[in-house]
Amino acid sequence: MNDKDRALRRRAEEVIPNGMYGHQSALLLPENYPQFFARAKGAHLWDADGNKYLDYMCAYGPNLLGYGHEAIDAAYIAQLKLGDTMTGPSPVMVDLAEQFVGQITHASWAMFCKNGTDANSMAMVIARHATGRRKILIATGAYHGAAPWCTPVKNGTLPEDRAHQIFYTYNDEASLKAAVAEAGDDLAGIFATPFKHDTMAPQALLNPAYAAAARALCDEKDALLIVDDVRGGFRLSRDSSWSLAGVQPDLSSWGKVIANGHPISALLGNERARFAASMIYATGSFWFSAAAMAAGVVTLREIRDTDYLEHSITLGEQLRAGLANAARRHDVDFNQSGPVQMPLFLFGGDTDFRRGYFWCAEMLKRGIYMHPWHNMFICAAMTETDIAATIDAADASFAELKLHEAGLSEPFQMAFLRMATEH
Ligand SMILES: Cc1ncc(COP(=O)(O)O)c(C=O)c1O
Repeated sequence: MNDKDRALRRRAEEVIPNGMYGHQSALLLPENYPQFFARAKGAHLWDADGNKYLDYMCAYGPNLLGYGHEAIDAAYIAQLKLGDTMTGPSPVMVDLAEQFVGQITHASWAMFCKNGTDANSMAMVIARHATGRRKILIATGAYHGAAPWCTPVKNGTLPEDRAHQIFYTYNDEASLKAAVAEAGDDLAGIFATPFKHDTMAPQALLNPAYAAAARALCDEKDALLIVDDVRGGFRLSRDSSWSLAGVQPDLSSWGKVIANGHPISALLGNERARFAASMIYATGSFWFSAAAMAAGVVTLREIRDTDYLEHSITLGEQLRAGLANAARRHDVDFNQSGPVQMPLFLFGGDTDFRRGYFWCAEMLKRGIYMHPWHNMFICAAMTETDIAATIDAADASFAELKLHEAGLSEPFQMAFLRMATEH
């Protein structure tokens, strides 16, 4: 049943460009994926027609501890009633900054904004002001947000928006060193994600030697190291993600999970970056809103005090092993990459994603919401029963794939993807 979703899409086409924008557009997703969701609770979503799904996208990241988390939402609602967007911040802003600085090793200050893009844009400006230099190093294919300097879709942007960017290959020390050499005495900062989590390609865990080299090069050149923890933050570690490799950044950007889905992001920094951070102009009408900050305080406490991380890893391991067994049983070339709690699934030789789209559509029919080319997330509200149900659904979906794969053709959604990314 998707009559309501279809009707909503028809209305949306009239009043929203192309019916929807961004990667949330269902035009990019497999057949029968709903565009609109009526509600969410725990690990589940309900679409506009009332169909229920076990959600492996977690709102593209923000759902860490379960949708509608009672204690977090109670703090949000209590603060909403006291005051949210006011003429200035509430005291809870100081509480949240103290909490962050207390929990993240490299941080001695925090600034808050609304989106991961805001935090990364601020990081870039602070690195340039701190060093008085221009060059920013970015890994090829890494996503840092949707501003003109970093959007993957270049329509409407100028080459000048990306002036003074030098690209290097993630995890590759030699390539990073070459990029640093190219920057010469104009190096302001190096951006890096916690691990390689680009879309449409296998993920790769962090090479610790590359992380150490990035730190050493920044020290040698007096430039700033920026870890973009917007997607991976608190999914791998309770500290900033590169702590796992013993590397502390100068700046780290956060978003998505930090208030378990309430709208807030953050830029954290060390003493080296404090003065520059105090000298840039940074603000937004909603950046000081208090309710999401109150939710953030409780979320950070839950992160510190519960076993959400170990639970997510245990479930992720069960899922990885179960899916690998099921794929083997059906003789399907199924590649699982990245940390188990942030998995990406790709089919061998599936260059136009025909197998991925078909398999995900089959999973959806069985109540499991997955993505054919973006990494997914395990949330702490999932249970072993959910994982077992996912493996059962995968078993049946692999069988369907084997039956139909000879007749599959390129998914029509590829045309939208090409249109969006061609320049
Ligand atoms: C690594 C990374 N950085 C930055 C962003 C941008 O965050 P936002 O969409 O909140 O602007 C994202 C969003 O997916 C991301 O995954």
